[in-house]
Amino acid sequence: MVTLGVNIDHVATIRQARGTAQPDPVWAAALAQLGGADCITVHLREDRRHIQDRDVEILRKTVTVKLNLECACVPEMLDLALQLSPDQVCLVPERREELTTEGGLDVAGRADQVEQAVLQLTAAGIRVSLFIDPEEAQINAAARVGAHIIEIHTGRYANSSGEDRHKELSKIELATDYAMRARLEVHAGHGLNYENVIPVAATQGMRELNIGHAIIGRAVYVGMQAAVREMKELLDSLTRRRYG
Ligand code: PXP
Repeated sequence: MVTLGVNIDHVATIRQARGTAQPDPVWAAALAQLGGADCITVHLREDRRHIQDRDVEILRKTVTVKLNLECACVPEMLDLALQLSPDQVCLVPERREELTTEGGLDVAGRADQVEQAVLQLTAAGIRVSLFIDPEEAQINAAARVGAHIIEIHTGRYANSSGEDRHKELSKIELATDYAMRARLEVHAGHGLNYENVIPVAATQGMRELNIGHAIIGRAVYVGMQAAVREMKELLDSLTRRRYG
């Protein structure tokens, strides 16, 4: 079964556009859970462009499903992650000028730093996920530094079409298989939506998908609870097809 993590960053993006109190991502998290979310995901960026420290503090106290905190692998954010104590931390690369997270974390190139972070977080009882591109070198490095989970960056798959999309899907399938054999749990996310999610969700061994922009975009029209439920039903229909 593939579970659904709902990324609520873009609710905070709308709030920050006016510097007011609404829309509050804490409310969005409650509605996402009513809609069937298995996990609530937030990215606390160093520039605090959307999610704020206060949001994560309240979410920690109110979210009853898994709370997944995405953050950069830098001392300030790791200290905060340890204080906030989410169930899971996903380490992501971060560049201030980017619109969204572009490309995966270079675990192979920063192995010592990432290993230290994994050790610190694991000692505090937090499961650690690494957001990486579907490449063997990065998967090997993720296993070496002791990560529990990899989240495969699906941006290239989402942004391609035709034969190229087929090729990107094969990379995700091969990477999932390779990571499972390295005893890593496999998640995926970025750019997934109601039209392109099924092939990724159907990948043998895929355990969780993190989806933000598409769900928040649909919620503008149909409401948060309904937008999450629709995505959840898509994933559940796959399970029904598989197991009758
Ligand atoms: N997973 C990670 C690690 C991300 O950084 C993001 C984007 O914030 C997502 C998933 C969700 O991407 P999207 O908003 O395109 O669904």
